[in-house]
Amino acid sequence: MTKSPGYFFECIGCSRIFKEARSYSCSDCGDLLQIRYDLGPVKDEFQSSLHKGGGLSVWRYRALLPISSRHVVTIGEGGTGLPRSEQLSQELDLSELYFKNEGQNPTGSFKDRGMTVAITRAAEIGVKSVLCASTGNTSASMAAYAAKAGMKAIVLVPKGKIAKGKLLQASVHGANIVEVKGNFDRALETAKRMTEKRRDLYLVNSINPYRIEGQKTTAFEMWEQLERRVPDYVFVPVGNAGNISAIWKGFKELRELELTELLPKMIGVQASGAAPIANAYTRGIKDFTPWPHPNTIATAIRIGAPASWKKALTAVRESTGNILRVSDKEIIHAQRLLARREGIFAEPASAASLAGLYKARNSNLITNDVCVVCVITGHGLKDQQAATFLRH
Ligand code: F0G
Repeated sequence: MTKSPGYFFECIGCSRIFKEARSYSCSDCGDLLQIRYDLGPVKDEFQSSLHKGGGLSVWRYRALLPISSRHVVTIGEGGTGLPRSEQLSQELDLSELYFKNEGQNPTGSFKDRGMTVAITRAAEIGVKSVLCASTGNTSASMAAYAAKAGMKAIVLVPKGKIAKGKLLQASVHGANIVEVKGNFDRALETAKRMTEKRRDLYLVNSINPYRIEGQKTTAFEMWEQLERRVPDYVFVPVGNAGNISAIWKGFKELRELELTELLPKMIGVQASGAAPIANAYTRGIKDFTPWPHPNTIATAIRIGAPASWKKALTAVRESTGNILRVSDKEIIHAQRLLARREGIFAEPASAASLAGLYKARNSNLITNDVCVVCVITGHGLKDQQAATFLRH
């Protein structure tokens, strides 16, 4: 065993503290749990890890990850590029624009950052079978990490609604694929019920707080890649809303560690056919209502009842950011621009961040003298059908 930071669980609803938790939700009020640290004792260790060689990676930041076992289940996640835009920043008249290219992760999406931590945790507590509901990328990632760890993988996916490449990945890595009638929200409900009934199954959706801990490293990397500076704005595609919450958590921890005084504004971007959080933001938090029939070409974010909606709204409110809606047409346009002007092939959901940036600039929501990072969440090869729209 190596030293792990002292951590505990805090309910995001009633703030109750739990020393240990196998579940992802509060036994009092049912809201989600998040992991918190006593940051004082890890400050020095975190600082010294920043001077280590070996390049960027999720596990570079293990001083701030809730894992104590020496053995981690890793396939080399994180350390993704942050290329600076030349053409599109000019077109947008923006002084600094970067793309955090999460498609460079082992299974082609940001999910690997969270999965390496969640599956390591699963191994730590002796789990043999892992489960997730997914719009595709989570299932591909979980299947790969479960294979690496020698665990059984069960994935629930909405029938006919996920990109073929992602289904292929899950099946190549040996997952047991169950196609569920209805949408992702229904699949996630089923997955939650299954894990309540069967204690031998470990759920690794982003409601699992260990996933969030891995994904927060996106913020640490951006800060290092920008030479210890945070961007002014971070644009993030939003589906189930785990990632925007995770990235915000990462930035806030950097500030708690006194490594930055400033924080970025978080701009979530939803597809207009699946935008319940954007609606809640416009109308006020109490008006949050799930959408029964979400629809968009960006199947990865085709979600009507995002599990982490409350966390996403907190991220946006605390950072004085925003949540925008973009149409499928705008998403495809952004996907084409990324491919043709920046050399980045992103899947539709991933291009939503750039589509959101165009919207923000066109409506003068942001000025031109700022530093912006668009998170490009997954690789375009996963969804070849959607890419047929790009050829013309
Ligand atoms: N971009 C891509 C490529 C995704 O796969 C997802 C989520 C998101 C953005 C949104 O991230 O859910 O944390 O807000 N995909 C999940 C999945 C839901 O099952 O693969 P989020």
